Amino acid sequence: MRLTLKIWRQSGPDAPGRFVTYEHNDVNPHMSFLEMLDVLNQQLIQKGEEPIAFDHDCREGICGMCSMVINGVPHGPQRATTTCQLHMRHFKDGDVITIEPWRARAFPVIKDLVVDRSAFDRIIAAGGYISVNTGSAPEAASILVPKPDADRAFDAAACIGCGACVAACPNASAMLFTAAKVAHLNSLPQGQPERYQRVVRMVAQMEKEGFGACTNHGECEAVCPKEISLDTIAQLNRDLLAASLRGVRP
Ligand code: SF4
Ligand code: FES
Repeated sequence: MRLTLKIWRQSGPDAPGRFVTYEHNDVNPHMSFLEMLDVLNQQLIQKGEEPIAFDHDCREGICGMCSMVINGVPHGPQRATTTCQLHMRHFKDGDVITIEPWRARAFPVIKDLVVDRSAFDRIIAAGGYISVNTGSAPEAASILVPKPDADRAFDAAACIGCGACVAACPNASAMLFTAAKVAHLNSLPQGQPERYQRVVRMVAQMEKEGFGACTNHGECEAVCPKEISLDTIAQLNRDLLAASLRGVRP
């Protein structure tokens, strides 16, 4: 396959960025999107040019590192698929593909397609934990969890923290991510002692980081590679209201 790639190049956080066009004539349909970029980078290195910086780690759809906007859509055209799991057979010979970093004030560009997502880490640190003594693994049935609660927690825990929800949102809101992390722990018995403090603190940190407000566009759910549901946001809002009625402060 032959492709024309328009890729965002930016040498550093304060440098001006621009799209650079590359003709890629050596694309195998069985390659993943990141392997296609690996081959392009190899060619750039052989020509003595700077390779394109992009984030990746597991390449198995688990870690959430592979953040890039492909033809205007975070993670590209395949529903429920991370960039690393996207394959070139979903594109056509001769296609023009635009590749950009996540665009959000709270995710500043570090270089090319790499953004700083440490704002997510600080939201997790604000409340994404439970205060229990660690030790050897407890007997599985020692804390009984109703099946619907276990399912809700498990679905929310599938969030890999990639940030596509923020990149897709016109407000650059981090509500889907934060709601997934709140819903994960607030659905379980182990999460109850800090339930209201957790939601208040994580939402306060989200606002402090400069993410926008949720105005129910639903773009986040549409691009989420783990299909985190908007229901988690409803659950967050219910817990936030209950916390405010109890007078809980960050
Ligand atoms: S909610 Fe979905 S899109 Fe947002 S960080 Fe989690 S996995 Fe990524
Ligand atoms: S590289 Fe880990 S999810 Fe894509």
